Amino acid sequence: MTYVVTDNCIACKYTDCVEVCPVDCFYEGETMLVIHPDECIDCGVCEPECPPDAISPDTEPDMDKWVEFNRKYSIMWPVIITKKDALPDADARDGETGKLESYFNENAGAGG
Ligand code: SF4
Ligand code: F3S
Repeated sequence: MTYVVTDNCIACKYTDCVEVCPVDCFYEGETMLVIHPDECIDCGVCEPECPPDAISPDTEPDMDKWVEFNRKYSIMWPVIITKKDALPDADARDGETGKLESYFNENAGAGG
């Protein structure tokens, strides 16, 4: 089992989650974070810390694609262990539909 970041992180990226993860398994893209599924120890402490509820356990329905999505980008992007400012329009983008198509890109974030 693992926890994964899903599409409501896109264009928000509040980063509260990285502050509580005991194993530093969040990785930063330009528009969102992901979790490395093989590093996550399933502690669950990050889930309630995310303002837009973008973190879910893979036991919820239809999570397979998000596990593979998180795995793919966690290998490509740098680790992030320090909270930073959310993206500029984070509050306005929270809850929008179609964020993957509208805002996501594969660019790495700065990490740190
Ligand atoms: Fe880190 Fe625990 Fe969240 Fe996994 S469930 S990403 S180990 S805080
Ligand atoms: Fe994203 Fe939520 Fe973390 S918005 S950066 S998963 S706190």
